[in-house]
Amino acid sequence: MNISKTGACMDFRNYKDSDFKELITLLKINNSFDKMTDSRKIFKALVKQNPEAIILAVEGKKLAGYVFAIYTPFESYIHHLGVAPEFRKQGIGSMLLARAEKALKCKGAKRADLFVSSKNCPALGFYKKKKWAWLERVLVMEKEL
Ligand SMILES: CC(C)(COP(=O)(O)OP(=O)(O)OC[C@H]1O[C@@H](n2cnc3c(N)ncnc32)[C@H](O)[C@@H]1OP(=O)(O)O)[C@@H](O)C(=O)NCCC(=O)NCCS
Repeated sequence: MNISKTGACMDFRNYKDSDFKELITLLKINNSFDKMTDSRKIFKALVKQNPEAIILAVEGKKLAGYVFAIYTPFESYIHHLGVAPEFRKQGIGSMLLARAEKALKCKGAKRADLFVSSKNCPALGFYKKKKWAWLERVLVMEKEL
C-alpha cells in the first residue's frame, strides 16, 4: 500500500484477467488503446510468461493507473504508462514507472526504451523529470506486415 500526494491509499498489484474490461476502458480514456495489440488473449499470454508484465494501481476496486513492463533479453520496454485523469498529479505515474523499472531490472535488463509521441508534451515533460532521455542518434522505422 502507498499513499499518494493527496492521501489516496493506492495498492499496486499484477494484472489479472478479470481486470481486462476496466483496463481497456482506461486505455481508451487515455487515448492509448491499440486495437491490434490490446486484446484479452495477448494480455493473458503476456502475464502468463511474466506475471509482472502489467502492473496496476488500484484504489479500493477502482483502477487508477497501469504500466506494462515488457522484458526481452534483447530490448526491454515501458509500454502504455497511464493514470486515470482524476488521479493524475498525485505521484501515481511516478510510482508506476518506478515499479516497472524495478521489475525490468530484476529480470536482468540493463536499460529500457519507450515510445512516446513527439506531440505528447505532458508525457515528454513527465519522462524528462524521471531522467529518461531521447536518443538523437536513433530514428524509429516501421513497416506494415
Ligand atoms: C504522463 C502521466 C502518466 C503522468 O502521471 P501522473 O500520475 O500525473 O504523474 P505524477 O503525479 O507522478 O508526476 C510526476 C512528475 O511529472 C510532472 N508531470 C506530470 N504531469 C505533467 C504534465 N502534464 N505536464 C508537466 N509535468 C507533469 C509532475 O509535475 C511531477 O513532477 P514533480 O515530481 O516535480 O511534482 C499521466 O499524465 C497520463 O496518464 N497521461 C495520459 C497517458 C499518457 O500520455 N501516457 C504516456 C504515454 S506512453
